[in-house]
Amino acid sequence: MTLRHFLTISDLNHDELIRVLDRASALKALRGAPEHPKPLDGKSIAIVFEKASTRTRLSFEVGIYELGARPVTLISKDTQLVRGEPIEDTARMLSGYVHGVVYRTFGHDRLERLAQSSTIPVVNGLSDRFHPCQLLADLMTVRQSFGPSLKDVRVAWIGDGNNMANSWIVSAALAGFELALACPAGYPPDSQVLADAHAQGANVRLVERPEEAAEGATVVTTDVWASMGQEDEAKERRHAFSGFLVDDAIMKRAGSEAIFLHCLPAHRGEEVSESVIDGVQSRVWDEAENRLHTQKALLEWLIT
Ligand code: CP
Ligand code: NVA
Repeated sequence: MTLRHFLTISDLNHDELIRVLDRASALKALRGAPEHPKPLDGKSIAIVFEKASTRTRLSFEVGIYELGARPVTLISKDTQLVRGEPIEDTARMLSGYVHGVVYRTFGHDRLERLAQSSTIPVVNGLSDRFHPCQLLADLMTVRQSFGPSLKDVRVAWIGDGNNMANSWIVSAALAGFELALACPAGYPPDSQVLADAHAQGANVRLVERPEEAAEGATVVTTDVWASMGQEDEAKERRHAFSGFLVDDAIMKRAGSEAIFLHCLPAHRGEEVSESVIDGVQSRVWDEAENRLHTQKALLEWLIT
Protein backbone atom coordinates (compact mmCIF):
# COMPACT_ATOMS: atom_id res chain seq x y z
CA MET A 1 0.00 0.00 0.00
CA THR A 2 1.29 3.50 -0.83
CA LEU A 3 2.13 5.62 2.18
CA ARG A 4 -0.18 8.65 2.38
CA HIS A 5 0.01 11.69 4.65
CA PHE A 6 -2.56 14.38 5.46
CA LEU A 7 -0.67 17.66 5.76
CA THR A 8 -3.18 19.75 3.83
CA ILE A 9 -6.72 19.05 2.71
CA SER A 10 -5.62 18.62 -0.91
CA ASP A 11 -3.64 15.53 0.15
CA LEU A 12 -7.07 14.00 -0.54
CA ASN A 13 -8.48 14.24 -4.06
CA HIS A 14 -12.11 15.29 -4.49
CA ASP A 15 -13.51 11.74 -4.48
CA GLU A 16 -11.44 10.79 -1.43
CA LEU A 17 -12.66 13.88 0.40
CA ILE A 18 -16.29 12.97 -0.26
CA ARG A 19 -15.63 9.36 0.73
CA VAL A 20 -14.08 10.45 4.05
CA LEU A 21 -16.98 12.83 4.75
CA ASP A 22 -19.57 10.13 3.90
CA ARG A 23 -17.74 7.64 6.08
CA ALA A 24 -17.67 10.17 8.94
CA SER A 25 -21.49 10.37 8.80
CA ALA A 26 -21.73 6.56 8.80
CA LEU A 27 -19.38 6.31 11.79
CA LYS A 28 -21.39 8.98 13.61
CA ALA A 29 -24.55 6.89 13.08
CA LEU A 30 -22.80 3.74 14.33
CA ARG A 31 -21.25 5.36 17.38
CA GLY A 32 -21.80 3.27 20.49
CA ALA A 33 -23.40 0.39 18.54
CA PRO A 34 -21.91 -3.12 18.72
CA GLU A 35 -21.41 -3.09 14.93
CA HIS A 36 -19.19 0.02 15.09
CA PRO A 37 -15.96 -1.16 13.38
CA LYS A 38 -12.58 -1.38 15.07
CA PRO A 39 -10.32 -1.23 12.01
CA LEU A 40 -7.25 -0.17 14.01
CA ASP A 41 -7.54 -2.97 16.56
CA GLY A 42 -4.23 -3.54 18.35
CA LYS A 43 -2.49 -0.54 16.79
CA SER A 44 -1.05 2.59 18.48
CA ILE A 45 -1.17 6.18 17.23
CA ALA A 46 1.03 8.99 18.59
CA ILE A 47 -0.29 12.53 18.99
CA VAL A 48 2.49 15.09 19.42
CA PHE A 49 1.78 18.66 20.55
CA GLU A 50 4.16 21.59 20.32
CA LYS A 51 1.23 23.97 20.95
CA ALA A 52 -1.76 23.92 23.27
CA SER A 53 -4.91 21.96 22.38
CA THR A 54 -8.24 20.96 23.86
CA ARG A 55 -10.40 19.72 20.94
CA THR A 56 -7.67 18.15 18.83
CA ARG A 57 -6.32 16.16 21.74
CA LEU A 58 -9.74 15.02 22.94
CA SER A 59 -11.17 14.18 19.52
CA PHE A 60 -8.09 12.22 18.42
CA GLU A 61 -7.68 10.37 21.72
CA VAL A 62 -11.36 9.37 21.87
CA GLY A 63 -11.55 8.62 18.14
CA ILE A 64 -8.41 6.44 18.12
CA TYR A 65 -9.76 4.50 21.10
CA GLU A 66 -13.13 4.01 19.35
CA LEU A 67 -11.32 2.62 16.28
CA GLY A 68 -9.73 -0.01 18.51
CA ALA A 69 -6.27 1.56 18.76
CA ARG A 70 -4.33 3.11 21.62
CA PRO A 71 -3.57 6.85 21.54
CA VAL A 72 -0.20 7.94 22.95
CA THR A 73 -0.10 11.69 23.56
CA LEU A 74 3.24 13.48 23.83
CA ILE A 75 3.50 17.10 24.95
CA SER A 76 6.72 18.32 23.37
CA LYS A 77 8.01 20.12 26.46
CA ASP A 78 8.18 16.73 28.17
CA THR A 79 10.05 15.11 25.26
CA GLN A 80 13.56 15.26 23.82
CA LEU A 81 12.19 17.49 21.01
CA VAL A 82 12.49 20.45 23.36
CA ARG A 83 16.14 19.53 23.95
CA GLY A 84 16.84 19.65 20.24
CA GLU A 85 16.37 16.06 19.03
CA PRO A 86 15.97 16.44 15.25
CA ILE A 87 12.48 15.99 13.86
CA GLU A 88 13.91 13.46 11.34
CA ASP A 89 15.22 11.27 14.16
CA THR A 90 11.90 11.61 15.95
CA ALA A 91 10.15 10.45 12.75
CA ARG A 92 12.34 7.34 12.42
CA MET A 93 11.85 6.47 16.07
CA LEU A 94 8.05 6.97 15.93
CA SER A 95 7.88 4.81 12.79
CA GLY A 96 9.28 1.90 14.79
CA TYR A 97 6.74 2.16 17.59
CA VAL A 98 3.39 3.38 16.27
CA HIS A 99 1.19 3.06 13.18
CA GLY A 100 0.48 6.76 12.61
CA VAL A 101 1.29 10.16 14.06
CA VAL A 102 -0.72 13.34 14.51
CA TYR A 103 1.54 16.38 14.88
CA ARG A 104 0.70 19.96 15.95
CA THR A 105 3.56 22.37 15.40
CA PHE A 106 4.59 25.88 14.34
CA GLY A 107 6.37 25.92 10.95
CA HIS A 108 4.68 23.75 8.32
CA ASP A 109 8.16 22.68 7.18
CA ARG A 110 8.49 20.69 10.42
CA LEU A 111 5.47 18.61 9.42
CA GLU A 112 6.90 18.09 5.94
CA ARG A 113 10.22 17.00 7.41
CA LEU A 114 8.48 14.61 9.80
CA ALA A 115 6.52 13.13 6.88
CA GLN A 116 9.64 12.81 4.70
CA SER A 117 11.44 10.74 7.33
CA SER A 118 8.42 8.65 8.41
CA THR A 119 7.34 5.25 7.17
CA ILE A 120 3.93 5.75 8.85
CA PRO A 121 1.12 8.20 7.92
CA VAL A 122 1.53 11.72 9.31
CA VAL A 123 -1.54 13.90 10.04
CA ASN A 124 -1.36 17.66 10.46
CA GLY A 125 -2.95 18.51 13.80
CA LEU A 126 -2.41 22.22 12.96
CA SER A 127 0.58 24.16 11.69
CA ASP A 128 1.08 27.90 11.18
CA ARG A 129 0.05 27.33 7.55
CA PHE A 130 -2.85 24.82 7.61
CA HIS A 131 -5.42 23.15 9.88
CA PRO A 132 -6.89 20.52 7.54
CA CYS A 133 -8.52 18.32 10.22
CA GLN A 134 -10.65 21.31 11.19
CA LEU A 135 -11.78 21.71 7.57
CA LEU A 136 -12.97 18.10 7.44
CA ALA A 137 -15.19 18.83 10.45
CA ASP A 138 -16.32 22.16 8.98
CA LEU A 139 -17.27 20.60 5.64
CA MET A 140 -19.17 17.82 7.41
CA THR A 141 -21.09 20.51 9.31
CA VAL A 142 -21.83 22.40 6.09
CA ARG A 143 -23.18 19.21 4.51
CA GLN A 144 -25.37 18.55 7.57
CA SER A 145 -26.97 21.97 7.00
CA PHE A 146 -27.15 22.19 3.22
CA GLY A 147 -26.97 18.63 1.89
CA PRO A 148 -24.13 16.56 0.41
CA SER A 149 -23.24 18.77 -2.55
CA LEU A 150 -20.80 21.50 -1.62
CA LYS A 151 -20.97 23.15 -5.05
CA ASP A 152 -23.71 25.70 -4.26
CA VAL A 153 -22.21 26.77 -0.95
CA ARG A 154 -20.93 30.35 -0.58
CA VAL A 155 -18.50 30.82 2.28
CA ALA A 156 -17.55 34.17 3.82
CA TRP A 157 -14.28 34.26 5.76
CA ILE A 158 -14.02 37.35 7.95
CA GLY A 159 -10.79 38.02 9.83
CA ASP A 160 -7.17 36.97 9.88
CA GLY A 161 -5.56 35.45 6.78
CA ASN A 162 -4.29 32.62 8.97
CA ASN A 163 -3.97 28.82 8.90
CA MET A 164 -7.78 28.46 8.87
CA ALA A 165 -8.21 31.00 6.04
CA ASN A 166 -5.53 29.17 4.01
CA SER A 167 -7.30 25.86 4.67
CA TRP A 168 -10.63 27.27 3.47
CA ILE A 169 -8.92 28.44 0.27
CA VAL A 170 -7.45 24.99 -0.44
CA SER A 171 -10.84 23.43 0.34
CA ALA A 172 -12.68 25.79 -2.01
CA ALA A 173 -10.34 24.75 -4.82
CA LEU A 174 -10.79 21.06 -3.99
CA ALA A 175 -14.54 20.97 -3.35
CA GLY A 176 -15.62 23.66 -5.84
CA PHE A 177 -17.51 26.06 -3.57
CA GLU A 178 -17.37 29.85 -3.63
CA LEU A 179 -15.26 31.66 -1.04
CA ALA A 180 -14.97 35.39 -0.30
CA LEU A 181 -12.40 36.50 2.26
CA ALA A 182 -12.39 39.85 4.03
CA CYS A 183 -9.10 40.28 5.88
CA PRO A 184 -7.81 43.52 7.43
CA ALA A 185 -5.08 45.38 5.53
CA GLY A 186 -1.74 43.73 6.24
CA TYR A 187 -3.25 40.37 7.27
CA PRO A 188 -3.98 38.58 3.97
CA PRO A 189 -3.93 34.82 3.46
CA ASP A 190 -0.79 33.14 2.11
CA SER A 191 -0.18 34.48 -1.41
CA GLN A 192 1.14 31.14 -2.71
CA VAL A 193 -1.92 29.27 -1.37
CA LEU A 194 -4.15 31.83 -3.10
CA ALA A 195 -2.18 31.69 -6.36
CA ASP A 196 -2.33 27.88 -6.40
CA ALA A 197 -6.10 27.96 -5.84
CA HIS A 198 -6.59 30.48 -8.65
CA ALA A 199 -4.37 28.39 -10.96
CA GLN A 200 -6.81 25.51 -10.34
CA GLY A 201 -9.74 27.76 -11.29
CA ALA A 202 -11.07 28.18 -7.75
CA ASN A 203 -13.85 30.71 -7.16
CA VAL A 204 -11.98 32.54 -4.39
CA ARG A 205 -11.86 36.32 -4.05
CA LEU A 206 -10.48 38.82 -1.58
CA VAL A 207 -12.78 41.70 -0.66
CA GLU A 208 -12.15 44.71 1.55
CA ARG A 209 -15.12 44.80 3.87
CA PRO A 210 -16.73 42.08 6.01
CA GLU A 211 -20.19 43.18 4.76
CA GLU A 212 -19.13 42.50 1.18
CA ALA A 213 -17.93 38.98 2.01
CA ALA A 214 -21.09 38.19 4.01
CA GLU A 215 -23.58 39.36 1.35
CA GLY A 216 -25.59 36.31 0.31
CA ALA A 217 -23.22 33.85 2.02
CA THR A 218 -24.52 30.46 3.20
CA VAL A 219 -21.66 30.05 5.67
CA VAL A 220 -20.04 32.85 7.70
CA THR A 221 -16.87 31.90 9.51
CA THR A 222 -14.04 33.49 11.45
CA ASP A 223 -11.25 32.70 13.89
CA VAL A 224 -9.22 34.38 16.62
CA TRP A 225 -7.31 37.53 15.71
CA ALA A 226 -4.06 36.31 17.27
CA SER A 227 -3.24 32.66 16.67
CA MET A 228 -1.00 30.51 18.85
CA GLY A 229 2.51 31.95 18.69
CA GLN A 230 1.21 35.48 17.97
CA GLU A 231 0.31 36.37 21.56
CA ASP A 232 2.76 39.32 21.56
CA GLU A 233 0.89 40.88 18.63
CA ALA A 234 -2.54 40.66 20.29
CA LYS A 235 -2.78 44.36 21.13
CA GLU A 236 -1.79 45.68 17.68
CA ARG A 237 -4.00 43.09 16.05
CA ARG A 238 -7.01 44.21 18.10
CA HIS A 239 -6.43 47.67 16.67
CA ALA A 240 -5.93 46.49 13.08
CA PHE A 241 -8.98 44.17 13.19
CA SER A 242 -11.38 46.79 14.46
CA GLY A 243 -14.56 46.54 12.34
CA PHE A 244 -14.06 42.83 11.63
CA LEU A 245 -16.39 41.55 14.37
CA VAL A 246 -18.96 39.02 13.14
CA ASP A 247 -22.15 40.38 14.69
CA ASP A 248 -25.89 40.31 14.01
CA ALA A 249 -25.56 42.95 11.28
CA ILE A 250 -23.06 40.74 9.40
CA MET A 251 -25.28 37.66 9.79
CA LYS A 252 -28.22 39.72 8.49
CA ARG A 253 -26.26 40.38 5.28
CA ALA A 254 -25.89 36.65 4.86
CA GLY A 255 -29.55 35.92 5.59
CA SER A 256 -31.56 33.83 8.01
CA GLU A 257 -30.64 30.48 6.39
CA ALA A 258 -26.89 31.06 6.78
CA ILE A 259 -24.88 29.25 9.44
CA PHE A 260 -22.00 30.50 11.56
CA LEU A 261 -18.84 28.42 12.08
CA HIS A 262 -15.76 28.96 14.27
CA CYS A 263 -13.04 26.38 14.87
CA LEU A 264 -12.84 27.45 18.55
CA PRO A 265 -11.57 28.55 20.98
CA ALA A 266 -13.39 31.88 20.48
CA HIS A 267 -13.13 35.32 22.03
CA ARG A 268 -16.68 36.64 22.44
CA GLY A 269 -16.80 40.37 21.75
CA GLU A 270 -13.57 40.29 19.74
CA GLU A 271 -13.94 38.33 16.45
CA VAL A 272 -17.56 37.26 17.13
CA SER A 273 -20.40 38.66 19.21
CA GLU A 274 -21.98 36.55 21.93
CA SER A 275 -25.33 36.88 20.13
CA VAL A 276 -23.91 35.20 17.01
CA ILE A 277 -21.80 32.40 18.51
CA ASP A 278 -24.54 31.52 21.00
CA GLY A 279 -27.38 32.30 18.59
CA VAL A 280 -29.68 30.15 16.43
CA GLN A 281 -27.48 30.30 13.33
CA SER A 282 -24.38 29.04 15.13
CA ARG A 283 -23.29 25.44 14.46
CA VAL A 284 -20.05 25.58 16.45
CA TRP A 285 -20.89 22.67 18.78
CA ASP A 286 -21.77 20.34 15.90
CA GLU A 287 -18.57 21.55 14.24
CA ALA A 288 -16.50 20.67 17.32
CA GLU A 289 -18.18 17.25 17.62
CA ASN A 290 -17.55 16.56 13.94
CA ARG A 291 -13.81 16.64 14.58
CA LEU A 292 -14.32 13.23 16.20
CA HIS A 293 -16.27 11.62 13.35
CA THR A 294 -14.18 13.03 10.49
CA GLN A 295 -10.84 12.18 12.09
CA LYS A 296 -11.99 8.62 12.72
CA ALA A 297 -12.90 8.34 9.03
CA LEU A 298 -9.57 9.92 8.05
CA LEU A 299 -7.47 7.59 10.23
CA GLU A 300 -9.38 4.52 9.03
CA TRP A 301 -8.71 5.56 5.43
CA LEU A 302 -5.03 6.44 6.01
CA ILE A 303 -4.01 3.48 8.16
CA THR A 304 -6.01 0.48 6.91
N1 CP B 1 -10.11 23.86 16.90
C1 CP B 1 -9.04 23.31 17.51
O1 CP B 1 -8.14 22.79 16.86
O2 CP B 1 -9.07 23.39 18.85
P1 CP B 1 -7.88 23.02 19.87
O3 CP B 1 -6.81 24.06 19.69
O4 CP B 1 -8.53 23.08 21.22
O5 CP B 1 -7.36 21.66 19.54
N1 NVA C 1 -5.79 30.01 14.07
C1 NVA C 1 -5.83 29.39 15.38
C2 NVA C 1 -6.60 28.12 15.32
C3 NVA C 1 -6.74 27.41 16.66
C4 NVA C 1 -7.49 26.11 16.57
C5 NVA C 1 -4.40 29.12 15.86
O1 NVA C 1 -3.57 28.69 15.05
O2 NVA C 1 -4.12 29.37 17.04
